[in-house]
Amino acid sequence: MTTELSGALNSVPTAVQRTGIVLQVGPMMPAVQNAIASEFGALRLPDGDARPEFIAEHADDVIVAVTSGKVGIDENLMASLPNLRAVINFGVGYDTTDAGQAKARGIAISNTPDVLNDCVADTAVALLLDAFRRTTEADRFVRRGDWLNGNFPLAARATGKRIGIVGLGRIGRAIATRLEGFRMVISYHNRSPLSDVEYTYRPSLLELAEDSDALIVATAGGPDSQGLISAEVLEALGPHGYLVNIARGSVVDQDALVRALVDGNLAGAGLDVYADEPRIPSELLELENVVLLPHLASGTVETRNDMAELTLANLRSFLTNGTLVTPAS
Ligand code: 8YV
Repeated sequence: MTTELSGALNSVPTAVQRTGIVLQVGPMMPAVQNAIASEFGALRLPDGDARPEFIAEHADDVIVAVTSGKVGIDENLMASLPNLRAVINFGVGYDTTDAGQAKARGIAISNTPDVLNDCVADTAVALLLDAFRRTTEADRFVRRGDWLNGNFPLAARATGKRIGIVGLGRIGRAIATRLEGFRMVISYHNRSPLSDVEYTYRPSLLELAEDSDALIVATAGGPDSQGLISAEVLEALGPHGYLVNIARGSVVDQDALVRALVDGNLAGAGLDVYADEPRIPSELLELENVVLLPHLASGTVETRNDMAELTLANLRSFLTNGTLVTPAS
């Protein structure tokens, strides 16, 4: 075991410190995977048939798990790791990790907030502008050669539109700041109003939807926000309204969204996230007025490098002195 590991974690029993394992769960960026393997001798949890044997052999020794928002440490896996002390999550969202069990067992969770705000906000704006102005649809029109037969239909103006942000947290604020440049009128829905912003607070999500030309979903995923954008909210947004989601697919009732779009009860949508990634309902694939991205909002070289660094900083800190740089809760 490395010096770093042996010096770590006052709270970890001595027997565990001697054999403590850092466990990689799911694929990670090479920068993270290589660093945790070379610095801490991390083992990768195998998938499939090899997993039960691995768990039987190593579960008692695992003290830290490194994972991503995409995979996480679910209820069963966490329950099978009796000496787990921390989950180091690559990504700001950690809804795939059982936070309730972690809290009950005193397992710390870190995430990678702030470093991705700008890129995620940029993506939200790109989706919003694309939905209003139909730019990817127009690109397809040009590539098909349809311009030779006539002009592309008119789109909706983006400037000055009323935008409702669902979840004015760090990413929501970064989106709002950008939208000010488009002279958009910004309102938001949170559990409670914020004292340091001038945007209009809507205690009712239905009212926010009714009074908005587009809703942007920027709230955290997880049990508390499951299905928040319901059929009723979509109905309130109405046939001239647009939905943009850069948060989590679970926040939106995806069946209701598909129905609203197919029936023409929503003007369009810009989506980066889905209920069952990477599977996307076939109806969405056929609609021209829907912009579909493959969950890439934070996906730039610079931001992913920053996320990797923060992930490693959390791991190193936890293994050195039992504290996290960016604890998630
Ligand atoms: C990542 C994200 O793609 O940070 C998040 O919550 O959704 C994205 O930035 C994802 O977490 C990586 O697994």
